[in-house]
Amino acid sequence: MFLLTPFLVAVVCILMLWIFKNADGGTERRNGEPRAEARPWVDEDLMGSTDVHQEEAGTAPSGAHTEPWTFVVVKDPDVKHKIREIIEEEEEINYLKRMGPRWVTDLKKFRTNWIKEYLDTAPVLILIFKQVHGFAANGKKKIHYYNEISVSIACGILLAALQNAGLVTVTTTPLNCGPRLRVLLNRPTNEKLLMLLPVGYPSEDATVPNLTRKTLDQIMVTV
Ligand SMILES: Cc1cc2nc3c(=O)[nH]c(=O)nc-3n(C[C@H](O)[C@H](O)[C@H](O)COP(=O)(O)O)c2cc1C
Repeated sequence: MFLLTPFLVAVVCILMLWIFKNADGGTERRNGEPRAEARPWVDEDLMGSTDVHQEEAGTAPSGAHTEPWTFVVVKDPDVKHKIREIIEEEEEINYLKRMGPRWVTDLKKFRTNWIKEYLDTAPVLILIFKQVHGFAANGKKKIHYYNEISVSIACGILLAALQNAGLVTVTTTPLNCGPRLRVLLNRPTNEKLLMLLPVGYPSEDATVPNLTRKTLDQIMVTV
């Protein structure tokens, strides 16, 4: 019994040290994680220079020629900030509670977190909504066949057009933010957020992840 006591004291001490260290580390991680990102944008007024690219995206093919897309171009700093607030609030829940450890682990290599400074600093935010249905002239619902595929093709064309013009963006799909952003931007209930593209010219110190791509023989099969 007397021999065991010092041993137990030592174990308790080690345990307390471990708990203390981890609690501290946790705070450090939580405080450390929302670091400022390198700003990939040159803050300059793009004027109407992205409008032409939305027009190009609008030439995308669509199921039964329904053209089920709406491009909301946000330049107003106050609206951009409100968008940021909504997204950061929802993304913090995604990272800490909603999505689970596998999702968080899968994203680790991209070093993203719920802090989205670019939503304030990018000169333009383009939010692309898919119209899940439309309205006929008599006010009845009009089916928008393959609306998600059609809008995704339009987004692809928009990405190519932006890149072609020397602009940069990152494809984002703000998780669980769609309904609040739709209300903020006064979009009708038949529209659902598909993608958000922050757009600007690249600053000189902008970096991109160094990822290798699959080779042609891994992605193409000739029959
Ligand atoms: C459909 C899609 C959704 C994405 N969603 C997000 C997102 O919500 N947030 C983000 O930071 N990046 C997002 N990304 C960006 C990817 O993480 C980014 O493209 C990454 O660098 C993958 O490399 P790659 O696009 O060169 O293959 C998304 C990309 C795609 C294509």
